[in-house]
Amino acid sequence: MYKNILKLSAGLLLAAGMTAGPAMAGGEAEVLHWWTSGGEAKALKVLKDDFAKNGGTWKDMPVAGGGGDAAMVTLKARIVSGDPPTAAQIKGPTIQEYDDEGVVGPYNIHAVASAENWDALLSPQVANHMKCDGFTKYCAAPVNIHRIDWFWANKKVLDANGLKMPTSWDEFNAAAKKLKAAGIIPLAHGGQPWQDATVFEAVALGIGGNEFYQKAIVDLDMNALGSSTMVKVFDQMRILQGFTDEGMPGRDWNVATGMVMNGKAAFQIMGDWAKGEFANAGLKPGEDYYCLPTPSNHGYLYNVDSFIFFSVKGKNKIEGQKLLASLMMGKNFQKVFNLYKGSIPARLDVPMDEFDLCAKGSAADLNYSAMTGGLLPSFAHGMALKLAQKGAIQDVVTEHFNSDMSSQEAASRLVRAVKDSL
Ligand code: BGC
Repeated sequence: MYKNILKLSAGLLLAAGMTAGPAMAGGEAEVLHWWTSGGEAKALKVLKDDFAKNGGTWKDMPVAGGGGDAAMVTLKARIVSGDPPTAAQIKGPTIQEYDDEGVVGPYNIHAVASAENWDALLSPQVANHMKCDGFTKYCAAPVNIHRIDWFWANKKVLDANGLKMPTSWDEFNAAAKKLKAAGIIPLAHGGQPWQDATVFEAVALGIGGNEFYQKAIVDLDMNALGSSTMVKVFDQMRILQGFTDEGMPGRDWNVATGMVMNGKAAFQIMGDWAKGEFANAGLKPGEDYYCLPTPSNHGYLYNVDSFIFFSVKGKNKIEGQKLLASLMMGKNFQKVFNLYKGSIPARLDVPMDEFDLCAKGSAADLNYSAMTGGLLPSFAHGMALKLAQKGAIQDVVTEHFNSDMSSQEAASRLVRAVKDSL
């Protein structure tokens, strides 16, 4: 009898919550994203919980696949069929590409961004990535800044082999050779196009330098793309390929991070979402693992995880968009989320004292690189180029990495592929 009463009241409460409770107040949001690894899911949960606490109803739309290539295909299909999600994870110029297609205006979140003065909370560079309508109206919200060009390494493995974190590519090659001879996989890698591209851009930045990266990868200067410097970049890619293991094809990035954690492999070259995995496993930088930017002349490859808000119909969805956008830019949210995610806040006013040494280093390097011309957008993570050009470069990089194609041939193909994509 009592049990029934309890059941009944719980049922009533639920019904009340669903009809007149705060769920209506916060609106609803179907959120498309590709955050499915342990660290990513933990970070995303902060947003889900915040949204629910504020009365929002979250409909999860995960599309697994690191780097978001699969998510972008799904998103395209949704847009083409005229059924956009309320919010979608996205990056870089793809935001403006969608605006050009006319599916983003009337920019439902711009009023929130104006009222909260996002222009004062973000660097102009980050703010511009979030704007549509000729960079005048906010149509996306940023949650972080990830750095791409990192080495992650197992401390025990390095210490046991008398190795320090490499500060030049030659040093890395020598360390990797020694590890290989000792029966350790030098480089944990997952053979997926976006991971090959992630390694490639770190190498291009390091071997070529900041100006070369800007010219070749951002400006798509044909001379730089086909240059002898690019040949050297591919030479280093071939050397790196020799340091990977047979299980590489198709391996997910977080599985590769796991190999560094358990000491099967020594290094991984990956963005700092890898740190989200170390953190999720309770591991600490400096004690269990090392982080150090891959060698370059104070270059810094960034990507900004953001969510685009398409044109949607219905008060509930629009309310959901506004609430989500406001929560994403919340000061405390940007701290807690990024502590889990491995990245640093996009907001400029979030104190860094609770962050670890990798994140503090990232924030300091970002400022230095911004002043000295080394702050550059990641091509592999969709910040530098439109999708067609990104795809063209990525295809050649992957083809080269997974075959015995010569470096010269790869550089020539790069020029052809980019020309054809324009
Ligand atoms: C995103 C990260 C994500 C990573 C792996 C990157 O493109 O910026 O947020 O964790 O891909 O999926």
